[in-house]
Amino acid sequence: MRQAGRYLPEYRAVRADTDFLTLCKTPELAVEVSLQPFRLIGVDAVIMFSDILIPVEAMGQEVRLTEQKGPELPDPIRSRRQVDRLAVPDPLEKTGFVMEIIRTLRRELDGVVPLIGFAGAPWTLAAYMIEGGGSRNYAHVKRMMYADPATFHALLDKIADTVILYLNAQIEAGAQVIQLFDSWAGELSPSDYEQFALGYQQKIFASIKRDSAPAILFINGCGNFLEKMATSGADVLSIDWRVDLKEARARIGDGLTLQGNLDPCVLLSTPEIIKQKTHELIKAGGGKKHILNLGHGILPMTPVENARAFVEAAKNAD
Ligand code: CP3
Repeated sequence: MRQAGRYLPEYRAVRADTDFLTLCKTPELAVEVSLQPFRLIGVDAVIMFSDILIPVEAMGQEVRLTEQKGPELPDPIRSRRQVDRLAVPDPLEKTGFVMEIIRTLRRELDGVVPLIGFAGAPWTLAAYMIEGGGSRNYAHVKRMMYADPATFHALLDKIADTVILYLNAQIEAGAQVIQLFDSWAGELSPSDYEQFALGYQQKIFASIKRDSAPAILFINGCGNFLEKMATSGADVLSIDWRVDLKEARARIGDGLTLQGNLDPCVLLSTPEIIKQKTHELIKAGGGKKHILNLGHGILPMTPVENARAFVEAAKNAD
């Protein structure tokens, strides 16, 4: 899950004189902010600092990040012609800085904790590319999905091909775990999830070099189709807090590992409450095949001592 970011004063200090995309493309700085949660909070794994929209820019669509609105893509994809113009980029040529970040992080971490690489999944990336940014009701992307499924599948296919090359390059550069973020697939009906998201997740998990890196799938709002998500081919399902962890385990059986799923807002409470909720969650996880995590990204207003209390509660659990 996202663990670097604006809740850390040390991150804000780096961002004070560097815009977000420059930060993503400057390995020295990206390495520094990747390591901040490890050094300051004590997490058990490091996720490389980047963003799911980096390969979108490499495909040829302009991406900006504004302070007020988050990601913005000023020329949203709305036609077949625009889809046809997008490239399937060579990950080394167009996003070599990501591989350098990974190589440097592996050297710096020296095996002490594992390094996670990641990418966005086709449905979620297509949503950003078509909406032109974040969205409340996904009207534009769903209009294309229903009105012109052929164009939509052509876009999803191009994104899937891009993501496969991109993740394999990350594994080759040294990523030890891969996380695929289909953050907004929870906005789909169960049958649309099967048609427009699951198949592409399956294709990606079947095409990446899994023997050297286990794979995690995250969907925000996955409770409606957890059983389908379990057929994606991922080794680990990362779930949001709206699903009860024990029920999730009962529904998917003993095969896969579950990751999650504390409500990030719990970290806005107090260290005592965080400790109690964390210990309850660890108990619900049953002590095996469970990676303790938040159910979505940490919020910028989270007090640092509360993030630390979460990690400490995990390490001190019996
Ligand atoms: O913790 C880490 O080091 C990993 C970094 C990471 C970022 N984005 C950095 C980031 C990861 C794993 C992501 C993935 C990502 N990006 C997702 C999937 C995960 C999820 O949360 O569902 C999504 C949907 C995005 C798209 C995106 N990028 C959004 C919605 C935003 C705005 C968020 C905000 O709080 O403003 C971004 C920008 C972004 N990506 C920030 C960070 C730290 C904030 C940028 C800043 O202002 O400095």
